[in-house]
Amino acid sequence: MIRSFEPIWLALPFPAFVISTEGEIAEVNDAAEGFCMASRRQMQGKSLEQFAGVGSAVVDAITQAQGGMRSVVLHEVKVGWGGQPRGVANVQATRLGEGEVLLMLHPRSIADKMDRSLLHRNAARSVAGMAAMLAHEIRNPLAGISGAAQLLGGTLNADDRELTQVIEDEAKRIGDLVNRVEAFGDMGPSAVEPVNIHDIIDRAKRSAAAGFAAHMSFKDVFDPSIPPTAGSPDQLMQVVVNLLKNAAEAAPAGGVITLKTTYRPGVKLLLPGKRSQSLPIEISVKDNGPGIAPSILDDIFEPFVSSKASGTGLGLSLVSKIMADHGGVVDCKSDANGTEFRLLLPVWKGEGR
Ligand SMILES: Nc1ncnc2c1ncn2[C@@H]1O[C@H](COP(=O)(O)OP(=O)(O)OP(=O)(O)O)[C@@H](O)[C@H]1O
Ligand SMILES: [Mg+2]
Repeated sequence: MIRSFEPIWLALPFPAFVISTEGEIAEVNDAAEGFCMASRRQMQGKSLEQFAGVGSAVVDAITQAQGGMRSVVLHEVKVGWGGQPRGVANVQATRLGEGEVLLMLHPRSIADKMDRSLLHRNAARSVAGMAAMLAHEIRNPLAGISGAAQLLGGTLNADDRELTQVIEDEAKRIGDLVNRVEAFGDMGPSAVEPVNIHDIIDRAKRSAAAGFAAHMSFKDVFDPSIPPTAGSPDQLMQVVVNLLKNAAEAAPAGGVITLKTTYRPGVKLLLPGKRSQSLPIEISVKDNGPGIAPSILDDIFEPFVSSKASGTGLGLSLVSKIMADHGGVVDCKSDANGTEFRLLLPVWKGEGR
C-alpha cells in the first residue's frame, strides 16, 4: 500500500520547510505559513535567505547540513522572517538526500515560558526572604540616622541645613525602597475568589489616570463575554497597575495605552509534567513607546533589572510572581513601535477547585 504523507506533513504542529539544493524553499507546511505569516505561494520558489536573512542562523544550519553534517540542531536562536523578529526557536536542519534539506523550527513554547516564570517566582521568593532580613536590619539604623540629621539640622544655619536635609531625603528614599522590597514578603497566597477582570482593569485604569498616567490616553477593546477568573482582586490589580505604570513611563507625552481582553475557550496548555491547563482569559496591555532595550529584553522579569534612574526593577518581577501564583502566564513582545504584555489566566471553577 502506498501511503500519502502529505496530510501528515501539513498537520505537523511546528513549522517545517523543504529547502532545495539551490537554497530555495520547495515545500512549506501549514504551521510554517502561520509562523512566517506568509502564504505557501509567497514562499515557494523563493530563496530562503530572502526570508530568513542573509547570514542568519537558519541559513547557516542549512549550509552545514548540506555540507556533510547531515543533521544540525541549533538551540535557542532568534529567528526572523521577512525582516520581522519571530521569536526564539530551536532550529533543526536534516539532509534528505542529494542536497535537499528538511528544516524544522521548534518555537519556544508557552510551556517553556511557564517554566521560566516558575523560575522567576523562585527568584522573587528569595527577594522576599532577603527583604524581610534587610527590612529588619536597615530600619532601625536608618531611623537613627534620619533622627540625628533632624536634630543636627535644628542647630545649623540655612546653608548647612541643606546638607542635613539631603541626609533625611536620602534616608527616606532607602526607607521607601525597603518598604517596596518588603511588599514581596507580604504576598502570601490570599483567599481565592471569582474575579471579574473588567472590574480589575477599571480600578487599575482609574488609579493610573488620576496619577502616573494622567498624560496618557486609553483605548479599550473589551470582550464582554469573559467569565470570571480565580484569584485575589488586589494582587491582580497590582499586576495591571505595574504594567500601566511601565507603559506610561515608556510612552511619549500624549501616548496611547491599549487595553484589550479576549476569551479563547478551548485553548489548552500542556505544562511540564504533562498537566494540561486551560488559560482562555487574555488581557493585553500595549503602549506606543520606544520598546524595551534589547540588552535587557530577556531579563525584564528578573528582580532588580531596570533601565530607569529611579526604578527598583521589581515591578515586572512582581507581575511574574503573581501570575505564577494564579496559575497564569505573562509574556511580552516589544519592538521600536511599542510594547505589549499579555496575561493569560484560568477560569473560575467554583469553590474547592
Ligand atoms: N512598556 C515598556 N516599555 C519600555 N520598556 C519597558 C516597558 N516595561 C518594562 N520596560 C523595561 O523593563 C524594565 C523593568 O521593568 P520593571 O517594572 O520590572 O522595573 P522598573 O519599571 O524599572 O522599576 P519599578 O517598576 O520598580 O519602578 C524597565 O526598567 C524598562 O527598561
Ligand atoms: Mg516598573
